[in-house]
This record gives sequence, C-alpha cells and structure tokens, in this order.
Amino acid sequence: MEHFYDKIDGWFDFPNIYTEMVNKFDSGSYFVEIGSWLGRSTSYMAVEIINSGKDIKFDCIDGWEGSVEHKDNTYVINKTLYEEFLKNVEPVLDHINPIKGFSYDVVNNYQDNSIDFLFIDGAHDYESVKKDLIDWYPKVKKNGVIAGHDYNVGNFPGLVTAVNEFFNNENIIRNGWSWIVDKTIYRNINFDISYDKNINKTYIYCNSDIEVTIIFYSWTSLINNETVIYTEVSHFNNNKFWYSFRNLNALSGLKVEIHYKNRIIKEQYFDFKNN
Ligand SMILES: C[S@@+](CC[C@H](N)C(=O)[O-])C[C@H]1O[C@@H](n2cnc3c(N)ncnc32)[C@H](O)[C@@H]1O
Repeated sequence: MEHFYDKIDGWFDFPNIYTEMVNKFDSGSYFVEIGSWLGRSTSYMAVEIINSGKDIKFDCIDGWEGSVEHKDNTYVINKTLYEEFLKNVEPVLDHINPIKGFSYDVVNNYQDNSIDFLFIDGAHDYESVKKDLIDWYPKVKKNGVIAGHDYNVGNFPGLVTAVNEFFNNENIIRNGWSWIVDKTIYRNINFDISYDKNINKTYIYCNSDIEVTIIFYSWTSLINNETVIYTEVSHFNNNKFWYSFRNLNALSGLKVEIHYKNRIIKEQYFDFKNN
C-alpha cells in the first residue's frame, strides 16, 4: 500500500522510529500511540504494518480535543477533530483501533507488561508528561520500547525535564526531536568509573549483554578540550570488565560515552580532581 500520510496535516517527523519498530517486533505484537491528532503519524504506522504482512495490533489514543497549544485550531474550536481524523485514516481504519479518551483515563484498560511499543505524543507540559510516564511505563513489556516526541529543550523544557527525571538521565536515545528508551538496554547496561589516587589509575567498569561502543575522551576542564583516546566495540554477554589508564595526570578527567547503534545512550564526565 502506498503511503498517504504526507497528505495529512501534523507534526510527524519520526517515520524512521515507526519503521524500525515494525521491523523489530514480530506478528502478535501490540503497539500504542498516544496523541494522533489528524492521523499523520497513525496512517504512516498503519501502512508500515500492512506492508510488513505482520499481524500487529495498533491502538491510537487521543481525547481529540487538542492540547493547550491547539486552542485556536478550527477543528478544535468546531469540535470536529475526531471526525476529520476518521476521514483521513479511512483507507487504514480496519488496521487501527482508535480510542477516544485521555491517556490518564484509558490507561486503566491496559494490563501491565502488555505493550511492545508505546509512542507518547500527547500533552507536552511537565506534569502531564511525568504522569504519562508513571502511568504507562509499567504497561510496556520488559523487552519493549517506550518513546515520545518533542524532546526539545528550547520548545518544551518541561517535557525534557520530565523525561530526564523519570529515566534518571540514563539510556535515553535521542532521535531528532524524539526520545527512545529500549527497556532491554535500560536493564542490561551498568556502567561506573572509579579512580585510585594512590596509584593514579582509572578503572572503567561496564557490564552489558548488548553490543555497544564505548568511547573514552581525555578531558581538560580548564580549556574544555576533548580528544578521543580509546574506542572499544564489544558485545559483552554479561561479562564484567575493567579498563585501566595510567599516566593520566596531565588530564583533569575523562569523558566516557556509550553508543548503541550510533546513538549516544549514556555519557559521563569523571573529574579526577574532585574524586
Ligand atoms: C502534537 S499532537 C499529535 C501529533 C500527531 N502524532 C501527528 O502525527 O501529527 C498532540 C495530540 O495529543 C492529544 N492529547 C493531548 N493530551 C492528551 C492526553 N492526555 N491524552 C490523549 N490525548 C492527548 C491532542 O488532542 C493532540 O491531538
């Protein structure tokens, strides 16, 4: 089926994430989108599911009353947003399950550990995003993926703070204006740095059972200069390992980045002077 999402108005700039999820998950999976508006992202996902030949259930949840930033929109004022959504997604209506309601109400209809992929593009203020994360995170399976849109500090600082706080700044993959947390990765990477003053030796400990790339940067905080000093690509299979660097006394610290599929999932500065 040909894509037709580009004929629908909206803010959909994450097709690569939707395609990746359809490729990643098998038949029998369960996808949920919070915030469908006029159906731009919804129709893209539906066509991807149809073309994959997989039997993936897809719920689209929206109050269809618009968010605060949409109060001047004609469909919102005329209360015709849902009607327009249904018209727009008509070619794929048999493959989606529209649920008219607010995320904080309909969440009670979902079992814990039942969703494979959840995308949140509903309300964008701090309180609402925090509530969505608290309510919906347990609904996503242990090996599932939770993601959302508008992870942009200039436009939605409250949203960014809520996401960072909820995930403790860890394992958040950035993809354009979207954030992604793969629960598998979240569980499976542990990472720590320690420094032994007496022998001027730095230990880096990483425990992961997925393939990650670790890049170590030298770091001179005085001139804020960063240079790659070592890169390691490994699939660790739950083995712990240690790296040690000697003779780093010319540096004031280290920066360590962990990459997964070319995206940074963790970064940490380690300041020798204060440790
Ligand atoms: C930015 S739009 C979604 C854009 C859409 N994904 C697209 O492709 O264009 C946000 C949508 O979230 C809905 N919304 C806001 N708060 C919500 C909530 N708590 N529960 C469900 N829907 C909500 C609004 O009605 C609006 O349609």
